[in-house]
Amino acid sequence: MITSRDLSPYFPSGLMAAMSEGRTFHFYHWDAVAGDRLTVAPDARPVVHWIWSGAVTTQSARITALLGHMEDVVLLVSAEDDFNPAVRIAPTRWIPESRGWIAHFDVPELSAGTTYHYVIERKGRVIWQHAGTFRTFPKGASHLRIAMGSCAATGSNHPVFSTIMQLQPDFFLHLGDLHYEDIAVNEVQLFKDAYHAVLTAPRQAELYRSTPIAYIWDDHDYGPNNSDGSSPSRMAALKSYRAAVPHYPLVSDEEDGSIQQAFSFGRVRIIMTDGRSMRSARSVADGPERTQLGARQLAWLKRELSAAARDYALIVWANTVPWIGEEPNYDRWSGFQYERRAIAGFLEREGIHNVVMVSGDAHMVAIDDGTNNRYGPSGEPLFPILHAAALDRRGSVKGGPYSHGAFPGPGQFGLLEVEDDGGSTIRVTLKGMNHWGEVLVEHSFERAVFPQ
Ligand SMILES: [Fe+2]
Repeated sequence: MITSRDLSPYFPSGLMAAMSEGRTFHFYHWDAVAGDRLTVAPDARPVVHWIWSGAVTTQSARITALLGHMEDVVLLVSAEDDFNPAVRIAPTRWIPESRGWIAHFDVPELSAGTTYHYVIERKGRVIWQHAGTFRTFPKGASHLRIAMGSCAATGSNHPVFSTIMQLQPDFFLHLGDLHYEDIAVNEVQLFKDAYHAVLTAPRQAELYRSTPIAYIWDDHDYGPNNSDGSSPSRMAALKSYRAAVPHYPLVSDEEDGSIQQAFSFGRVRIIMTDGRSMRSARSVADGPERTQLGARQLAWLKRELSAAARDYALIVWANTVPWIGEEPNYDRWSGFQYERRAIAGFLEREGIHNVVMVSGDAHMVAIDDGTNNRYGPSGEPLFPILHAAALDRRGSVKGGPYSHGAFPGPGQFGLLEVEDDGGSTIRVTLKGMNHWGEVLVEHSFERAVFPQ
């Protein structure tokens, strides 16, 4: 929307005063020299197209925004909602986009467990309608609420996004299929267009302005349906993710490196694996050669799991596709039975008992308490699993069986809540919810904390 202030350089103040907000005006001026009637083209590019926060830690965050202009733009950040006092942060990186530039603002030196407000200012004008908030993570043991979900039609404006926002989670874990563009050509701008559609959809935009994101892709937002490391759009997907998403530090600095990442909240470690960009082609038979994660990511995952088992009360492994299931299927872990057994065997050998998996892809909320997750050599239950979908797609059930049932449908999401008072046990509650706030499926368990 153009405001009268945008137009003020072009018109006398008397005319400006006659304008009222929210109405359409058609402006022309007469070029006396050329004698032509010309449409005045005031610089109508929005200052802010979209903005979201992520990579939140106890002391830092990243804000990523698509801006219409490069000059005289700063991010104001303040612990006060009137921005008094505020720090002014210049972008650390600019990336061209057909509508303007994607700017990265790295916000350092924050206090733990504190709500911060942020807003873009350009030439002294504050763009209040795109103001956002995030809360830095606490230091030490703390309660945690993660909202999570996956699978939304491109640019969805489903009420589920408002429901999630109202629950005020510490962050929103997006488990993939952020959009369904199924991009099969290697053009970065196509991905940027998809991000634009998602991040300007009103209810999604409002959620992302109020709640920091941690986002890992699945097939439809990485490439075409059921895509893998041979996807023609692979490089564009990797490049646009690095440009548009306020992600945690990636393991790989290389442009073509996969996007797995890990971060901590209190005594909880969150590990997000990239099951797409290193996935073997479908033609590779299930066995030692077929991989969903790739050798480097698998080695990283094992290191992360071992270290987190020692140092954290709980490990949340965000893995997008169904883990449980027997029937071989290339789009699920049941098509990667060799690699699944290898990971399960590793968990057993290392004695890692504090994992919970969260997944998307299947358009359902579902919980298994570990009963049907017996892929290690002992055949004992491995870890509980929560499926959280579909934000806005028709329901479907994949994999399983699930001990607590599977509930297909749109308008659904998951919650993972940790009660942690710093004692020798923590309590974890998994919930599958719908957008009316109803709990469709729930499971709680306690875990002893080692070392104490
Ligand atoms: Fe999906």
